[in-house]
Amino acid sequence: MRAAYDEFHAVSSMPGLNLRPENWSSPADWPAEWTQVFYKRYPRAERVELSERTALPPMDLADALAARRSARDPGTTAVTAANTVAVLAASVGVRHDLAPSDVGARRAYPSGGARFPVEIYLRFHHVADIADGLYHYNIVEDDLRVLSRSAEDEPVFQHIFGFDWITGARATVLMTAAFNRSAMKYGERAYRFALLEAGHLAQNILLTSAALGLAATPVGGFSDYVGDVYLELEYTDEHLLYAVVLP
Ligand SMILES: Cc1cc2nc3c(=O)[nH]c(=O)nc-3n(C[C@H](O)[C@H](O)[C@H](O)COP(=O)(O)O)c2cc1C
Repeated sequence: MRAAYDEFHAVSSMPGLNLRPENWSSPADWPAEWTQVFYKRYPRAERVELSERTALPPMDLADALAARRSARDPGTTAVTAANTVAVLAASVGVRHDLAPSDVGARRAYPSGGARFPVEIYLRFHHVADIADGLYHYNIVEDDLRVLSRSAEDEPVFQHIFGFDWITGARATVLMTAAFNRSAMKYGERAYRFALLEAGHLAQNILLTSAALGLAATPVGGFSDYVGDVYLELEYTDEHLLYAVVLP
């Protein structure tokens, strides 16, 4: 019997013919939704004003690479909203100096076809400068919004991962993918692209965390269904893909 991954690899493979330049369509003929950058906004949700931002210290790339380790105990630096959001801002690195039509289309991490399907949510727990709860981080506008401060959501979060070091972690970065942003252009290959993009983004988060002395571990083992319930995604085409846990 053929393994499911083999099946999916075949389904999401491009026929060689597509790779010949004469078969490429010109960007001028593309539909607008192939170039427009889509991202989620929560304009009615409470905005979090972060009074201070931690500056990223200058660090040799070689030193950051050497310092990165998956760590499930707290690091030397205490996790705060100020340094977690600084890590995110540096990791997503949106360029705001471009033409308005390009806003959000150039970032510190690459994205297949610049479709940017990945969204970021944050769960803070017992952190000094922000209330416990679930937040959405708007990558393009560098904007943090409150999605839930309900204590009722806590047991749901605990069932996503099931490990005490994650339940008790100060910050958890939850990466989802809104697959349709890529699928409308790339079909089934969108799934591969979303996973690859999340990996690029996660590596940036791990390296910038290392630069700030923050412990961080990537986590791919979780209950997909409970994760989607926690993020209220179960009836959408956006789903939880990956997490980076800051203990
Ligand atoms: C895709 C992926 C999924 C992972 N999932 C988990 C996980 O569910 N739980 C966990 O504790 N660590 C997880 N890790 C961390 C690995 O255990 C860790 O990277 C590996 O042991 C190598 O150690 P290092 O990161 O310190 O170099 C994951 C890493 C990757 C790349």
